[in-house]
Amino acid sequence: MSLFFFYSFLYFVLLVSLCFSSSFEHHLCSPTEASALLQYKQHFEIISYASYNCDRASFPKTKSWNESRDCCTWDGVTCDMLTGHIISLDLSCSQLFGNFHPNSSLFQLHHLHTLNFDNNYFNYSSIPHNIGRLTNLRHLNLSDRTFETMLHNYFTNLELLSLFNVNISSPIPVNISSSLRYLDLGYTNLRGVLTESFFLPPNSFETLKLSGNHLLKGVFPKIHRRHTVNGVGYFIHRHLCSLNHLNLYGCQFSGSIPDSIGNLTQITELDLSLNHFTGHIPSTISILKHLTIFGLTSNSFSGEIPDVFSNLQKLRYIDFFNNSFNGPFPASILSLTHLEYLGLSSNSLSGPLLSKASMLQKLSELDLSDNSLNGTIPSWVFNLPLVDSLWLHNNQFSGLADEIKTNPTLQLLYLNNNQLSGSFPQSLVNLTNLSTLDHSSNNITIDEGINITFPSLEFLLLSSCELKDFPHFLRNVKTIQYLDISNNKICGQIPNWFSGMRWDSLQFLNLSHNSLTGHLPQFRYDNLQYLYLKFNSLQGPLALSICNMSSLILLDLSHNYFSDSVPHCLGSMASLTVLDLRRNNFTRSLPPFCAQSTSLSTIVVNGNRFEGPVPVSLLNCNGLEVLDVGNNAINDTFPAWLGILQELQVLILKSNKFHGPISTGSLAAKVFGNFKAMIKLDDEDTREINLVIKGHDIELERISTIMTTIDLSSNHFEGVIPRTLMDLSSLWLLILSHNNLRGDIPMKLGKLNMLEALDLSWNRLTGKIPQELTRMNFLAFLNLSQNHLVGPIPQGQQFDTFENDSYGGNLDLCGLPLPKQCGTSDSSHAPQQLESEEDEGESYFFSYSFGLVVGTVMWSLMFKYRKPKWFVDYFDGLMPHRPKKRAQRRRT
Ligand SMILES: *[C@@H]1O[C@H](CO)[C@@H](O)[C@H](O)[C@H]1NC(C)=O
Ligand SMILES: *[C@@H]1O[C@H](CO)[C@@H](O)[C@H](O)[C@H]1NC(C)=O
Ligand SMILES: *[C@@H]1O[C@H](CO)[C@@H](O)[C@H](O)[C@H]1NC(C)=O
Ligand SMILES: *[C@@H]1O[C@H](CO)[C@@H](O)[C@H](O)[C@H]1NC(C)=O
Ligand SMILES: *[C@@H]1O[C@H](CO)[C@@H](O)[C@H](O)[C@H]1NC(C)=O
Ligand SMILES: *[C@@H]1O[C@H](CO)[C@@H](O)[C@H](O)[C@H]1NC(C)=O
Ligand SMILES: *[C@@H]1O[C@H](CO)[C@@H](O)[C@H](O)[C@H]1NC(C)=O
Ligand SMILES: *[C@@H]1O[C@H](CO)[C@@H](O)[C@H](O)[C@H]1NC(C)=O
Ligand SMILES: *[C@@H]1O[C@H](CO)[C@@H](O)[C@H](O)[C@H]1NC(C)=O
Repeated sequence: MSLFFFYSFLYFVLLVSLCFSSSFEHHLCSPTEASALLQYKQHFEIISYASYNCDRASFPKTKSWNESRDCCTWDGVTCDMLTGHIISLDLSCSQLFGNFHPNSSLFQLHHLHTLNFDNNYFNYSSIPHNIGRLTNLRHLNLSDRTFETMLHNYFTNLELLSLFNVNISSPIPVNISSSLRYLDLGYTNLRGVLTESFFLPPNSFETLKLSGNHLLKGVFPKIHRRHTVNGVGYFIHRHLCSLNHLNLYGCQFSGSIPDSIGNLTQITELDLSLNHFTGHIPSTISILKHLTIFGLTSNSFSGEIPDVFSNLQKLRYIDFFNNSFNGPFPASILSLTHLEYLGLSSNSLSGPLLSKASMLQKLSELDLSDNSLNGTIPSWVFNLPLVDSLWLHNNQFSGLADEIKTNPTLQLLYLNNNQLSGSFPQSLVNLTNLSTLDHSSNNITIDEGINITFPSLEFLLLSSCELKDFPHFLRNVKTIQYLDISNNKICGQIPNWFSGMRWDSLQFLNLSHNSLTGHLPQFRYDNLQYLYLKFNSLQGPLALSICNMSSLILLDLSHNYFSDSVPHCLGSMASLTVLDLRRNNFTRSLPPFCAQSTSLSTIVVNGNRFEGPVPVSLLNCNGLEVLDVGNNAINDTFPAWLGILQELQVLILKSNKFHGPISTGSLAAKVFGNFKAMIKLDDEDTREINLVIKGHDIELERISTIMTTIDLSSNHFEGVIPRTLMDLSSLWLLILSHNNLRGDIPMKLGKLNMLEALDLSWNRLTGKIPQELTRMNFLAFLNLSQNHLVGPIPQGQQFDTFENDSYGGNLDLCGLPLPKQCGTSDSSHAPQQLESEEDEGESYFFSYSFGLVVGTVMWSLMFKYRKPKWFVDYFDGLMPHRPKKRAQRRRT
């Protein structure tokens, strides 16, 4: 019986132990720790966007967490194999989304040694100070832009702390934690001054990253081996000597680098870019033989670059861009067999590049642009085994070495703005991968016999090269997208082979500023978008076939001798946005713009012999910003209906045969009020004006929509100045001179407080000059001469800057700057004799241009104080961007 019970008991024990062993025995992890983790997990949603910065291999690690498995096997969890305690939690890139609870159950994991929350979304929670309860924590990574914290000393025993992108917004406490070896406080909004003692014992960093704290000041620490005597004997502080990674990119450090930098013997990465450092680079850097990355860009370093690189054989990356280094190219750099990137651009290096063979087996990008290097470009440059991009522009190189062996890996070659002369380098053959060649602003000839093929060439820039002919080698180029041969000396007709090329990929063609003659051929480039032919001597009528280039966005035919009528189809091309026909010999009536399309935003036909009325079809151009029909023979009344076009900002009707009143009763009053774009521009808008003065003439070289303009001068307008003009409060230039306007100058014109230039001269205006005009704070040019104005000239503000010639030839004006004082009547005064037509024009242009030059100077003075954001001007904005340097800066 008892035996039975005994066996039953044994059986029971066996069962129970079997039971236990199946559920718990090989669960290393303690149930309390497991449940703490599960509790923690419940506070977060899983949303992939929360880890959008991570690579595709990342996954939500907490998904695999459940009770049926030992927590030591959960993703991201590591246990101590002996004790079973969780010692490491790596939840980086785990798509966690939610708030971090101040006393999260996580803080019960007292044995945690490593905690990594890199790249999740914690909704800008504060880092809970309970984290200080994790006294065994050594590595803490909270890098994320969605934490905020104060830097407290709850990190006392940490060896690794990364708070990259956490918003700290405070100074760094000096005694942050002396056990720290790795500290990343990049982009944390640190501020204040980092004292040198931060670098001193007891702190002893191996990695220190403070990049992107643009309010953090400091100096580069002096690195001494200090010897102190204590009870036992000599003691050597080897502080900072173990530093291997220092990143101060984009802070506000200043001062120079001390010679003692040579004591940083373990340093591998040193990035001091974008600070205010000055002085020379100490030659003690020659000792830093572990250095791989050396970045000093955008500081104010000066002096020669010490030629001490031969021992720094691990260097992979050197970037000294944008400093004031001078003297020769440091030849010892040529011995760096591991160098991949060398950037010395935007300094003042001078003298030649050595022609001795280089050992640069790994170099793929060489940027020496914007220096004063001279002599011939040695062969090794083109022959680097891994060469990819060469930026040698803006130097004074005078030629290429004779025997060049090129490496077909080369893709980008910038030789522009040097003094290269002679024949186009025949040796640039075998460049099968070359996609961009910028050779502009040199002096070369391209022999007809030369037969180079560039099977991958997309961007070719040969402007300002003194070329006398179209480059024949282009016959072999099939892939061209961007071709600029402007500003050369190419004479004669555009050759048939050129216009007949089947360049389907060509988008941009600039042939302007040459001496091309003859008719415009039919180009076969179906996808051309930008065509510049300005400043040539092309002539004859435009063929209808020009409209076959159906992708055209910009067509600039200005400053040629094109004649006859403009094909009507040109006004209705589907994509055409900018049409510039100025200064040609076109006649007849204007084509019906926008009759079948609405894309035109800029129409400039100034300086032709167009006749007839302004085409009413313009009403369809609902994006029209600039309309310049000046200097033609257009015979029409004021096109008040243009007021419907809400984007119109520049309206130039000057020197035509317009007649009648500017306003026709109440109708026009409304119309001017409708020029909405002229009414309100952002206050941010600033002013850039490009004036070119040729002889007595003046031209807005690039008509900028920023410069809202109404120029109705030299027509036969009559009637009064419309009161509604005052609503155009963004107007910059208002020119109504040389018409037959009568009546007063409206007092309310003073409301045009952005106005820079006001010209009402040569009309029949009467009455006094309203004192209100002094409110125009930007007025830099004023011409009220040759009217019938009387009374005192307003005083004060801008009016103190105008001279006699602003007022000449009026009936009875008095007060400064005129000699006649007010109060005394001078009845002998008579209006000035009208000059002959031609003289009139000349004096008009002269005073106009003079006034505007003065005005421009004044604006620039004013802007010194008003700090404008300069505008990217309209046309540049439209052009496709030239190939840019490839983004080459590392993310730090
Ligand atoms: C627990 O996780 C495992 C593996 O991830 C899964 O197969 C199992 O269905 C889960 N159990 C529960 C109750 O979610
Ligand atoms: C938070 O901590 C307090 C004591 O510090 C404790 O009483 C409370 O239960 C905790 N709350 C949670 C949700 O853990
Ligand atoms: C290292 O520091 C010592 C002590 O300040 C100094 O004398 C020495 O010149 C430094 N070494 C270098 C290479 O700068
Ligand atoms: C190159 O520049 C150096 C230093 O500026 C100058 O002395 C030398 O004459 C120049 N050489 C040539 C060929 O222009
Ligand atoms: C161009 O390549 C061919 C064949 O690869 C080679 O024979 C020739 O020497 C190369 N020419 C130059 C100038 O590198
Ligand atoms: C260009 O080079 C030729 C000789 O090759 C010379 O006659 C001419 O003056 C140079 N032009 C300029 C602008 O330097
Ligand atoms: C130029 O070279 C290409 C390809 O190498 C060849 O097809 C063509 O006939 C050559 N032209 C001349 C004029 O030598
Ligand atoms: C403009 O065309 C007319 C004929 O229509 C011609 O007499 C005149 O010379 C041309 N002007 C220019 C500058 O080509
Ligand atoms: C303008 O055209 C009208 C007829 O449409 C004509 O009577 C008038 O003379 C022309 N004016 C000028 C200045 O040519």
